[in-house]
Amino acid sequence: MSDYFDAGASRLTIDYRNAMAEAVGVANGVSDAMLDELAPVVAEQHDRLVAEHDAGEQRWMDLPSDTALADDIDAFASETRAQYQDFILIGIGGSSLGAIATIQALANPFRNLQSPAARGGPRFFVLDNPDPEKVAATLATVDLSSTLVNVVTKSGQTAETMANFLAVRQALEAAIGPERARKQIVATTDPSEGLLRALADQEGYRTFPVPPGVDGRMTVLSAVGLLPAAVCGCDIKGLLAGARSMRTRTSTGDVRKNPAYLLAALCILADTRLGKSILVTMPYADALFGLADWFRQLWAESLGKRLSLDNEVVFTGQTPIKALGAIDQHSQIQLYTEGPNDKLISLIAVGQYRASVTIEDVPAGVSELDYLQGAELGQLLQREQLATAWALTEARRPNFTIGVPTIDAAILGELFYLYELQTVMGGALLNVNPFGQPGVEAGKNATYALMGRRGYETLRDELLATTGSDDRYRVALN
Ligand code: PA5
Repeated sequence: MSDYFDAGASRLTIDYRNAMAEAVGVANGVSDAMLDELAPVVAEQHDRLVAEHDAGEQRWMDLPSDTALADDIDAFASETRAQYQDFILIGIGGSSLGAIATIQALANPFRNLQSPAARGGPRFFVLDNPDPEKVAATLATVDLSSTLVNVVTKSGQTAETMANFLAVRQALEAAIGPERARKQIVATTDPSEGLLRALADQEGYRTFPVPPGVDGRMTVLSAVGLLPAAVCGCDIKGLLAGARSMRTRTSTGDVRKNPAYLLAALCILADTRLGKSILVTMPYADALFGLADWFRQLWAESLGKRLSLDNEVVFTGQTPIKALGAIDQHSQIQLYTEGPNDKLISLIAVGQYRASVTIEDVPAGVSELDYLQGAELGQLLQREQLATAWALTEARRPNFTIGVPTIDAAILGELFYLYELQTVMGGALLNVNPFGQPGVEAGKNATYALMGRRGYETLRDELLATTGSDDRYRVALN
């Protein structure tokens, strides 16, 4: 593609000094020798990824280039913003987490409470869990006559998504009739396969594609993430531009120069050589908490694998945890600092917050609070991040800091692409396939069987024969 490497400069920084042996000791920190040892493996895997991409695989790498799709989505979103009061996203896992992360990062945190003029588009609701309380409350809150429903599923058949969708669809039809309901549904799904695709074709829903050959958790930069984001007024072209600039920055196979490969190497070395089986992502910004949640799924589903590429049982994967600075300094940090030394902690620091709140007036006579006179809250949060990095390092807990100059669409695009490539390289270093999620299938099939789906009768009989309770291990209320 012509614009494959043409983007502007990446603005993200990584400070990994505190993850190194020099800072936290040889038992806890990665050494330069370890990185040197891994460098040729990373370079070789980089060449493989490039060759696979050239051969038409690794299609997720192309998503940042699809500006034509972004044009279509922007046009659709601008009609939607003018026309609807409410927007419901129905999807789960990779089909919702990216949109949630994007909107949380880029939109006003109280967007749904703002006036329509200030909001500039519909209120945003997500139905991911098929929790009847949440679904009922959502249906009771929105104005169905002015609600656009975006159902998102790559496979087109996920039980939670289809169940939520059918519940919302019937409410919509009851409220406005089937003809209008059809016009208020937009389906994001595979262009040619799956149950939702068949239903969309039959009913004449407007559709957007989930790109074939891309796992759900890597689709944030496709219509899956971009459409809800654009409807909420996010700058999706800025997002793609940021991802392209990270793609340019990560075009080298040098582990020390490529930030995605560096992070993959640090995390995998910490896990496999230093016993850091937990990876904490802790942004110091409420707006980035959704990103930590999105990354949690990406890292867990991609690297938590039973079989290696050689078909050996390996049970790999580093457990991702999300935390929020400074809130988790009053919850998790005690454990991270004095509990088992089994974590690598990734802090995300923000150079310039988008708002500034200064304390002008500390009451006289409370001299212990004088230090807050003239203080700015963003500055406090920044210093808390530095203080946490220092305290963790003092306690010999490896950590690194990803620095972003501010939170905007471009930097978020950078982060999405960075984490995706980090994860793909993580899979390569662990010798597992980062794509697919075979471990999820057993539970999915069992749900279908228990719900009586056709074709799952044998599994249903098997399940019912084993799921009865055993009185020896049951506590009953008298
Ligand atoms: O990464 C993945 O592919 C999964 O997490 C899916 O996104 C999730 O299971 C939802 O699947 P679908 O989009 O098919 O409904």
